[in-house]
Amino acid sequence: MTNIRNIVILTGAGVSAESGIDTFRTAGGLWERYKPEDVATPEAFARDPDLVLAFYDMRRAAIREKQPNLAHEALARLDAEWPGELLIVTQNVDDLHERAGARRVLHMHGQHHTAWCTACDSRPAWSGPLIHRPPCPECGEAALRPDVVWFGEMPYRMEEIAAALHEADLFVSIGTSGAVYPAAGFVRNARELGAATLELNLEPSQGSRWFDEARHGPASEIVPAWVDEMLALA
Ligand code: APR
Repeated sequence: MTNIRNIVILTGAGVSAESGIDTFRTAGGLWERYKPEDVATPEAFARDPDLVLAFYDMRRAAIREKQPNLAHEALARLDAEWPGELLIVTQNVDDLHERAGARRVLHMHGQHHTAWCTACDSRPAWSGPLIHRPPCPECGEAALRPDVVWFGEMPYRMEEIAAALHEADLFVSIGTSGAVYPAAGFVRNARELGAATLELNLEPSQGSRWFDEARHGPASEIVPAWVDEMLALA
Protein backbone atom coordinates (compact mmCIF):
# COMPACT_ATOMS: atom_id res chain seq x y z
CA MET A 1 0.00 0.00 0.00
CA THR A 2 2.88 2.37 -0.76
CA ASN A 3 1.42 4.28 -3.74
CA ILE A 4 -1.76 5.29 -1.94
CA ARG A 5 -2.75 8.96 -2.16
CA ASN A 6 -6.54 9.14 -2.28
CA ILE A 7 -8.67 7.11 0.12
CA VAL A 8 -12.43 6.53 0.21
CA ILE A 9 -13.77 4.97 3.40
CA LEU A 10 -17.32 3.58 3.61
CA THR A 11 -18.66 3.10 7.13
CA GLY A 12 -21.78 1.33 8.37
CA ALA A 13 -23.52 0.61 11.66
CA GLY A 14 -20.67 -1.64 12.81
CA VAL A 15 -18.38 1.36 13.33
CA SER A 16 -20.86 2.73 15.92
CA ALA A 17 -21.82 -0.63 17.48
CA GLU A 18 -19.26 -0.35 20.29
CA SER A 19 -20.63 3.09 21.10
CA GLY A 20 -23.87 1.32 21.99
CA ILE A 21 -25.80 2.27 18.82
CA ASP A 22 -27.97 -0.50 17.35
CA THR A 23 -26.90 -2.16 14.13
CA PHE A 24 -29.61 -3.31 11.74
CA ARG A 25 -28.91 -6.92 10.77
CA THR A 26 -26.69 -8.40 13.45
CA ALA A 27 -28.28 -10.29 16.34
CA GLY A 28 -30.73 -8.04 18.17
CA GLY A 29 -30.45 -5.39 15.48
CA LEU A 30 -33.14 -2.86 14.65
CA TRP A 31 -34.59 -4.83 11.76
CA GLU A 32 -35.20 -7.77 14.10
CA ARG A 33 -37.40 -5.51 16.25
CA TYR A 34 -39.02 -3.30 13.62
CA LYS A 35 -40.02 -3.99 10.04
CA PRO A 36 -38.30 -1.52 7.67
CA GLU A 37 -41.53 -1.37 5.65
CA ASP A 38 -43.32 -0.10 8.76
CA VAL A 39 -40.89 2.66 9.76
CA ALA A 40 -38.38 3.35 6.98
CA THR A 41 -40.25 3.91 3.70
CA PRO A 42 -42.17 6.89 2.26
CA GLU A 43 -45.25 4.64 2.13
CA ALA A 44 -44.95 3.94 5.88
CA PHE A 45 -44.71 7.68 6.55
CA ALA A 46 -47.83 8.34 4.48
CA ARG A 47 -49.69 5.46 6.14
CA ASP A 48 -48.71 6.06 9.78
CA PRO A 49 -46.61 9.22 10.27
CA ASP A 50 -46.83 9.01 14.07
CA LEU A 51 -45.23 5.55 14.10
CA VAL A 52 -42.42 6.69 11.82
CA LEU A 53 -41.81 9.95 13.70
CA ALA A 54 -41.83 8.09 17.06
CA PHE A 55 -39.29 5.55 15.70
CA TYR A 56 -36.87 8.27 14.62
CA ASP A 57 -37.50 10.34 17.78
CA MET A 58 -36.51 7.25 19.77
CA ARG A 59 -33.36 6.68 17.69
CA ARG A 60 -32.38 10.39 17.77
CA ALA A 61 -32.74 10.45 21.58
CA ALA A 62 -30.83 7.16 21.97
CA ILE A 63 -27.91 8.49 19.94
CA ARG A 64 -27.68 11.79 21.82
CA GLU A 65 -25.99 10.32 24.88
CA LYS A 66 -23.69 7.94 22.99
CA GLN A 67 -19.98 8.71 22.57
CA PRO A 68 -17.56 8.12 19.69
CA ASN A 69 -15.43 4.99 20.12
CA LEU A 70 -11.77 4.28 19.28
CA ALA A 71 -12.68 3.54 15.65
CA HIS A 72 -14.30 6.98 15.16
CA GLU A 73 -11.34 8.61 16.86
CA ALA A 74 -8.80 6.77 14.71
CA LEU A 75 -10.64 7.76 11.52
CA ALA A 76 -10.73 11.38 12.69
CA ARG A 77 -6.96 11.21 13.23
CA LEU A 78 -6.47 9.79 9.73
CA ASP A 79 -8.69 12.55 8.32
CA ALA A 80 -6.59 15.19 10.10
CA GLU A 81 -3.17 13.76 9.24
CA TRP A 82 -3.49 12.02 5.87
CA PRO A 83 -1.66 14.13 3.23
CA GLY A 84 -3.79 12.98 0.25
CA GLU A 85 -7.50 13.12 -0.49
CA LEU A 86 -9.75 11.33 1.99
CA LEU A 87 -13.53 11.00 2.19
CA ILE A 88 -15.55 9.16 4.83
CA VAL A 89 -18.81 8.12 3.17
CA THR A 90 -21.03 6.98 6.00
CA GLN A 91 -24.33 5.10 5.81
CA ASN A 92 -24.86 6.02 9.46
CA VAL A 93 -27.19 8.80 10.54
CA ASP A 94 -25.41 9.39 13.85
CA ASP A 95 -22.86 12.22 14.21
CA LEU A 96 -20.14 10.23 15.96
CA HIS A 97 -17.62 10.69 13.13
CA GLU A 98 -18.03 14.46 13.46
CA ARG A 99 -18.03 14.39 17.25
CA ALA A 100 -14.73 12.46 17.11
CA GLY A 101 -13.35 15.34 15.01
CA ALA A 102 -13.65 14.03 11.45
CA ARG A 103 -14.43 16.75 8.90
CA ARG A 104 -14.50 15.12 5.47
CA VAL A 105 -17.71 13.15 6.20
CA LEU A 106 -20.55 12.55 3.72
CA HIS A 107 -23.84 11.16 5.08
CA MET A 108 -25.26 9.26 2.10
CA HIS A 109 -28.30 8.07 4.10
CA GLY A 110 -28.96 11.44 5.74
CA GLN A 111 -28.50 12.29 9.39
CA HIS A 112 -30.38 12.48 12.68
CA HIS A 113 -29.18 15.94 13.58
CA THR A 114 -31.04 17.71 10.79
CA ALA A 115 -34.73 17.61 9.88
CA TRP A 116 -36.16 18.06 6.37
CA CYS A 117 -39.06 20.40 5.71
CA THR A 118 -41.31 18.92 3.04
CA ALA A 119 -42.93 22.35 2.57
CA CYS A 120 -39.88 24.57 1.91
CA ASP A 121 -37.20 21.86 1.37
CA SER A 122 -34.88 23.39 4.02
CA ARG A 123 -32.83 21.13 6.30
CA PRO A 124 -32.58 22.84 9.69
CA ALA A 125 -30.34 21.48 12.47
CA TRP A 126 -32.61 19.47 14.74
CA SER A 127 -32.16 17.71 18.09
CA GLY A 128 -35.66 17.36 19.59
CA PRO A 129 -38.65 15.17 18.75
CA LEU A 130 -40.74 15.63 15.59
CA ILE A 131 -43.83 13.74 16.81
CA HIS A 132 -45.54 16.97 17.95
CA ARG A 133 -45.22 18.44 14.44
CA PRO A 134 -43.12 21.47 15.43
CA PRO A 135 -43.11 24.40 12.95
CA CYS A 136 -40.27 24.52 10.44
CA PRO A 137 -37.78 27.22 11.63
CA GLU A 138 -37.62 28.52 8.03
CA CYS A 139 -41.21 28.58 6.81
CA GLY A 140 -43.29 27.88 9.92
CA GLU A 141 -45.13 24.96 8.34
CA ALA A 142 -45.67 21.80 10.47
CA ALA A 143 -44.03 19.77 7.69
CA LEU A 144 -40.78 18.45 9.16
CA ARG A 145 -39.73 14.82 8.56
CA PRO A 146 -36.55 12.93 9.51
CA ASP A 147 -33.69 13.86 7.16
CA VAL A 148 -32.99 10.14 6.67
CA VAL A 149 -32.98 8.33 3.31
CA TRP A 150 -35.72 5.67 3.40
CA PHE A 151 -35.86 2.50 1.36
CA GLY A 152 -36.94 3.44 -2.15
CA GLU A 153 -35.42 6.94 -1.89
CA MET A 154 -32.18 8.07 -3.57
CA PRO A 155 -29.13 8.31 -1.30
CA TYR A 156 -27.60 11.78 -1.07
CA ARG A 157 -24.62 13.20 -3.00
CA MET A 158 -24.07 10.17 -5.23
CA GLU A 159 -22.18 12.25 -7.83
CA GLU A 160 -19.63 13.33 -5.21
CA ILE A 161 -19.23 9.70 -4.14
CA ALA A 162 -18.74 8.56 -7.74
CA ALA A 163 -16.13 11.27 -8.29
CA ALA A 164 -14.26 10.27 -5.11
CA LEU A 165 -14.31 6.57 -6.12
CA HIS A 166 -12.94 7.58 -9.53
CA GLU A 167 -9.90 9.18 -7.87
CA ALA A 168 -9.47 6.56 -5.13
CA ASP A 169 -6.28 4.52 -4.85
CA LEU A 170 -7.73 2.70 -1.84
CA PHE A 171 -11.33 1.86 -0.89
CA VAL A 172 -11.90 0.70 2.70
CA SER A 173 -15.25 -0.66 3.93
CA ILE A 174 -15.73 -0.60 7.71
CA GLY A 175 -18.60 -2.09 9.74
CA THR A 176 -21.15 -2.73 7.01
CA SER A 177 -22.92 -5.93 6.02
CA GLY A 178 -22.86 -5.16 2.29
CA ALA A 179 -26.62 -5.82 2.23
CA VAL A 180 -27.89 -2.48 0.88
CA TYR A 181 -27.19 -0.89 -2.49
CA PRO A 182 -25.84 1.36 -3.86
CA ALA A 183 -23.30 1.38 -0.97
CA ALA A 184 -22.77 -2.39 -1.27
CA GLY A 185 -21.67 -1.91 -4.89
CA PHE A 186 -18.99 0.70 -4.21
CA VAL A 187 -16.29 -1.96 -3.77
CA ARG A 188 -16.88 -3.23 -7.30
CA ASN A 189 -16.87 0.31 -8.72
CA ALA A 190 -13.58 0.95 -6.88
CA ARG A 191 -12.03 -2.31 -8.18
CA GLU A 192 -13.07 -1.58 -11.76
CA LEU A 193 -11.51 1.88 -11.40
CA GLY A 194 -8.23 0.37 -10.22
CA ALA A 195 -8.35 0.99 -6.47
CA ALA A 196 -7.04 -1.46 -3.89
CA THR A 197 -9.85 -2.66 -1.62
CA LEU A 198 -9.84 -3.53 2.09
CA GLU A 199 -12.67 -4.74 4.37
CA LEU A 200 -12.51 -4.10 8.11
CA ASN A 201 -15.49 -5.82 9.74
CA LEU A 202 -16.45 -8.02 12.69
CA GLU A 203 -17.05 -10.90 10.28
CA PRO A 204 -17.03 -11.43 6.51
CA SER A 205 -19.67 -9.22 4.89
CA GLN A 206 -21.91 -10.24 1.97
CA GLY A 207 -19.39 -8.57 -0.34
CA SER A 208 -16.19 -9.97 1.18
CA ARG A 209 -15.22 -11.79 -2.01
CA TRP A 210 -14.79 -8.45 -3.82
CA PHE A 211 -12.08 -7.21 -1.45
CA ASP A 212 -8.33 -7.69 -2.03
CA GLU A 213 -7.84 -7.94 1.72
CA ALA A 214 -10.15 -8.43 4.74
CA ARG A 215 -9.42 -8.08 8.44
CA HIS A 216 -12.03 -9.26 10.92
CA GLY A 217 -12.50 -8.13 14.50
CA PRO A 218 -14.07 -5.31 16.52
CA ALA A 219 -13.73 -1.91 14.82
CA SER A 220 -12.34 -0.37 18.01
CA GLU A 221 -9.31 -2.70 17.61
CA ILE A 222 -8.76 -3.25 13.89
CA VAL A 223 -9.45 0.34 12.76
CA PRO A 224 -6.88 2.07 15.00
CA ALA A 225 -4.31 -0.60 14.01
CA TRP A 226 -4.99 0.04 10.31
CA VAL A 227 -4.84 3.85 10.78
CA ASP A 228 -1.47 3.52 12.53
CA GLU A 229 -0.20 1.51 9.55
CA MET A 230 -1.45 4.10 7.06
CA LEU A 231 0.00 7.06 8.94
CA ALA A 232 3.36 5.26 9.15
CA LEU A 233 3.31 5.27 5.32
CA ALA A 234 2.24 8.93 4.97
N1 APR B 1 -16.91 -3.89 14.76
C1 APR B 1 -16.91 -4.06 13.41
N2 APR B 1 -17.98 -4.49 12.71
C2 APR B 1 -19.10 -4.75 13.41
C3 APR B 1 -19.18 -4.61 14.82
C4 APR B 1 -18.02 -4.16 15.50
N3 APR B 1 -18.01 -3.98 16.81
N4 APR B 1 -20.44 -4.96 15.20
C5 APR B 1 -21.11 -5.31 14.09
N5 APR B 1 -20.31 -5.21 13.01
C6 APR B 1 -20.62 -5.47 11.61
C7 APR B 1 -21.56 -6.62 11.42
O1 APR B 1 -20.83 -7.83 11.28
C8 APR B 1 -22.26 -6.25 10.10
O2 APR B 1 -21.55 -6.77 8.99
O3 APR B 1 -21.29 -4.33 11.11
C9 APR B 1 -22.20 -4.74 10.08
C10 APR B 1 -23.54 -4.07 10.36
O4 APR B 1 -24.40 -4.43 9.31
P1 APR B 1 -25.87 -3.80 9.28
O5 APR B 1 -26.50 -3.93 10.61
O6 APR B 1 -26.55 -4.37 8.06
O7 APR B 1 -25.63 -2.23 9.06
P2 APR B 1 -25.24 -1.50 7.72
O8 APR B 1 -24.40 -2.36 6.84
O9 APR B 1 -24.71 -0.16 8.09
O10 APR B 1 -26.68 -1.27 7.01
C11 APR B 1 -26.69 -0.52 5.81
O11 APR B 1 -29.10 -0.58 5.78
O12 APR B 1 -31.10 -0.43 6.86
C12 APR B 1 -30.22 0.25 6.07
O13 APR B 1 -30.04 2.57 6.02
C13 APR B 1 -29.71 1.46 6.79
O14 APR B 1 -27.54 2.47 6.61
C14 APR B 1 -28.21 1.24 6.85
C15 APR B 1 -27.96 0.25 5.71
